[in-house]
Amino acid sequence: MKRILVTGATGQIGSELTLALRERYGNENVVAAGHKRKPSEELLNSGPFEIIDCGTISTVEKVVKKYKIDAIYHLAAILSAVAEAKPKLAWDVNINGLCNILDVAREHGCAVFTPSSIGAFGPDTPKDNTPQDTLQRPNTMYGVTKVAGELLCDYYNKKFGVDTRGVRFPGIISYVTLPGGGTTDYSVEIFYEALKHRRYTCYLKPDTYMDMMYMPDAIKAAIDIMEADPKKLLHRNAFNVTAMSFAPEKIANEIKRYIPDFVIEYNIDPVRQAIADSWPNKMDDSAAREEWGWKPSYDLASMTKDMLEKLSKKLEIKI
Ligand code: SER
Repeated sequence: MKRILVTGATGQIGSELTLALRERYGNENVVAAGHKRKPSEELLNSGPFEIIDCGTISTVEKVVKKYKIDAIYHLAAILSAVAEAKPKLAWDVNINGLCNILDVAREHGCAVFTPSSIGAFGPDTPKDNTPQDTLQRPNTMYGVTKVAGELLCDYYNKKFGVDTRGVRFPGIISYVTLPGGGTTDYSVEIFYEALKHRRYTCYLKPDTYMDMMYMPDAIKAAIDIMEADPKKLLHRNAFNVTAMSFAPEKIANEIKRYIPDFVIEYNIDPVRQAIADSWPNKMDDSAAREEWGWKPSYDLASMTKDMLEKLSKKLEIKI
């Protein structure tokens, strides 16, 4: 990877991954591409920025040619809760957008990283220690696009030799950019509300377990899989990766260790509860550990400590 394009660079993962890639590969070698969200000053000032609409292939191709791109991190996507509200938009962005990226990659010899998700599993999938290779019959539009995306990436690799790679991300927790419209968003919102109001109303039931990961580990996963020795990869796309599994009541208890008067309340959103109930409690990520050395650094305790420290500084609120 010498010249990298990041789509969705203004999003939750993209805004931090782009800066990490710039640090690693050089500012000028990493092109950030956004569509509708306004880029931060840091993103704009630290390297090239372009507007791309992944649904219009010519806008992608123009940038790939201009910067002689050889690797694409394709992060532009619609998350699960928005996808349930706007299924056609989710299909357009998550599938037609991905197809365009893969076609441009095929034509111009680019490697492609595409994140899949815990959302690629469904209610019939084993919930605990969810295997790498298992039943995938998701009942959400997000899940439908994620499974199709995993298969598309495998297909472009096998059929056309495109160097496609990817992971199934769990909920990502971060303090720089807010996630937009996911089912796991509570795990970020809870920190903002705990600091601002000492109180959070959660839209999921207290015992809803899901896999989660702190942003530094997500960035590490995205970089490590793309740098992995291809000869060691038995799987290519959609590696299960996780760092912790918790439920709202567990993270609330962890936050209370620092903010003893923090209170969590519940007002269940049936749409997001149904999505969460259809996803695994905890994935088995041993294939990623064996094939490319995946190992997360943060668990619930160390993530909570760091999040509260960083966010209290950002919001200028004392813990
Ligand atoms: N964080 C995503 C969502 O909740 C899952 O991949 O939609």
